[in-house]
Formats: sequence, C-alpha cells, structure tokens
Amino acid sequence: MKLLLVCGARPNFMKIAPLMRAIDCHNEAARRNDRIEAKLVHTGQHYDSEMSESFFRDLSLPNPDHYLGVGSDSHAKQTAEVMIAFEPIVLNEKPDCVVVVGDVNSTLACALTAAKLRIPVAHVEAGLRSFDRSMPEEINRLVTDAVSDYLFTPSEDSNANLRREGVPEEKIHFVGNIMVDALRKHQDLARSLRAYARYGLPAFGYAVLTLHRPSNVDDSGTLLRFLRVLEQVQAQLPVLFPVHPRTRDHLRAWGLMETVEGIPGVRLCEPLSYIDFLSLLCGARLVLTDSGGIQEETTALGVPCLTLRDNTERPVTVTHGTNMVVGTHPERIMAAVGAVLGGEVRLGRIPPLWDGRTASRIVKVLAARENSRSVEAV
Ligand code: UD1
Repeated sequence: MKLLLVCGARPNFMKIAPLMRAIDCHNEAARRNDRIEAKLVHTGQHYDSEMSESFFRDLSLPNPDHYLGVGSDSHAKQTAEVMIAFEPIVLNEKPDCVVVVGDVNSTLACALTAAKLRIPVAHVEAGLRSFDRSMPEEINRLVTDAVSDYLFTPSEDSNANLRREGVPEEKIHFVGNIMVDALRKHQDLARSLRAYARYGLPAFGYAVLTLHRPSNVDDSGTLLRFLRVLEQVQAQLPVLFPVHPRTRDHLRAWGLMETVEGIPGVRLCEPLSYIDFLSLLCGARLVLTDSGGIQEETTALGVPCLTLRDNTERPVTVTHGTNMVVGTHPERIMAAVGAVLGGEVRLGRIPPLWDGRTASRIVKVLAARENSRSVEAV
C-alpha cells in the first residue's frame, strides 16, 4: 500500500510525526507484501524556520519527499496553489490513499484534489465542529469531511457530529487524539528542559499567551483590547507571549508593538519550537489562548486553559479537561484568571482514547482495509 501524507502548517507537523512512526513500526512487523510505503508532502503553507523547520527537527520528521513551496496568500489563492501543485504529484505517485490532518487550508486543498482524482482520502481529526462558519477552519473541516472516505475522530462528540450529518457508520473510526501521541513521546524531555528558566520565570509562576485567530488579531480595536487585558494579567503574574507571524505583522502595522513591548511583566518571543513550547506549557500556572491544539495539549497535561474565543470545536476539553471558553470580553477573562489564581482549578480527566496510541490504530484500520481490498481483487 502506498500513502501520501500531507502536512502544510505548524499544527500539522505533530499530527504527521506519530503517523510516520506508526508506519515504520508496522513495516518492521509486516510481511514483505503488507508493507506500507509512505511519502511525505509538505505544501509550504508555513515556511519560516520557527513555523516549520524547527518542528521537523524536534519531531524527527524526515525531509519531505515533495515540497510544494506554496507560501502565504489569500485563502482562494493559497488553496488553489496547493491544489495545482498537488495534482501532478498524486497523478505521478498513484497512492492508494491520501492522508490529511487537521483543518488548515492545505488539508482542504489536498483532500479536494485527491477526491476529484478518485483517490481515497483519510482525514485525521475528523468531525470537529465549532458551528461557526465565520472561521475559515470550520469551512475546511466541513468540506474535508464531506469528501473523505476514512474519518478518524478524536472524541465522541466528533462521532456524533458526523452521524448527525449523515456520514455512514462504516466511515467513522474513533481512534483518539493523535496530538497526544506526540505529546506523550516528548513530554519527559520537555519537562526536563525547563524552558521557562531561560526567560527568568519560576515554575508554575507564569502564564503563557498565544493569539493568532483572524477574529482576534485582524482588527486593531480587538487586538488593542487584548493588550489592555494583558496589562491586567501581568499585574498578577508574568506572561510569556510567543508572537505568531500574523499577530506580529498586525502589531507592527498598527504601531502597537511598542505598546506591548512596554508592558513590564510581559516577555515577548518568536514562535517557539515544539519541545520548547511544550516545556513552557508543562511549567505554566495558566494558559490563555485562541489556538485549537493548545486547548487539547493543556487538557492532556492537566494545565488550566482559558480559551479566548466564543466557541470551541473541541468541547471534550471543557467537558473532560481543564479548558474554559471565556470569550473575548476583558471582565470575563479577568474573572476567570482570578478564579484560577484563587485556586479554583479544574483538575480534569483525560478524554477516552487520548492514550498515545492513536497513530497505530489509524495504521491498523488503513492496513486492514487495504488487505481486504486486495483479497476482493483476487
Ligand atoms: C494557519 C491556519 C490556522 C492555524 C494556524 C497555526 C488556515 C486557514 N489557518 O493560520 O488554522 O491555527 O495556521 O499557525 O489554514 N506567515 C509567516 N510565516 C509563515 C507562515 C505565515 O510570516 O511561515 C504569516 C504571513 O504573513 C501570512 C500569515 O502569517 O500571511 C498567515 O499565514 P496563513 O498560513 O495564511 O494562516 P495562519 O494565520 O498561520
């Protein structure tokens, strides 16, 4: 069996790495004709060293077999560029299945391209829904799931979403959260690094902030409101803020970089590599974020997380984990910060199948289907 595995943007790399490893393990145990050939495609949606290369290094990912070098552009252009560059690769490689992960533009573009060439598509992290179509990722999730043949889900709520949309049961495979595979593998190293010490911060005596959602950073008034919140949070504990390129560009364009640099308890830094960031999460008292993946990582680590959005496509992090969706209003955010610092910590529990073995479940499903197809062919 031949698979094309697609990654493109920062949140993809820690989902692809466990799959590559699980395929290697499968191949070590498999008979010669049951082996899986995996080719890695990197679309180049993210291209800065801190957004891509450092993740390849930390996660021991091999160099991609195909690099599409697509880069940044409007949604339509970026998606179209990926499709145009990916199509000849699919035609030449003739894979048995294209595997896409997550919900970024590269996920959607490669799923669509493969589906139109009648190549089966496997979507890892299927079924997540924020029910907010103003989020580009929600459109990507809906379309990717609609054209996928294998829907690998991380949680029971995603199974329910797919069923409600009429997806046949045999396409839904509840396998757990693949990010947790990467996290468990690197967690001990991350803890031992104590990356916070580099910024002069004490263990469990700081907050981590990340902000990059267009709804939070593409409007100057909204971004300024977050900086005002940041002033209040740092009065209670220091804040480390790794700045995403989109946010950095907007802070600069609107002359707000000096404002944030001038807040005394805030340490700004470049986007961090996978293990350094994990290390910071491990030692944090509190995380404030609008990221999807960080809601899951904090739940897996038992660290309190305040999600600076009005909704989440990952409700299991709230029902089971340590996440609270607090929205974007300063009073609500500060009330939640006060509650966490006052000791109202939700311990949370680990959601079902977030056990570090998701990738091997996925490989098992793909290999079994391929075997049954070759038996049918005979
Ligand atoms: C993308 C994903 C989002 C994910 C996020 C994680 C989509 C629709 N969005 O958002 O779901 O949470 O990645 O980071 O796919 N830029 C750089 N260097 C890079 C990459 C981007 O400077 O390596 C800058 C460019 O100015 C670019 C902007 O960031 O225009 C946005 O990049 P893009 O990939 O379009 O979206 P993200 O906001 O990163």
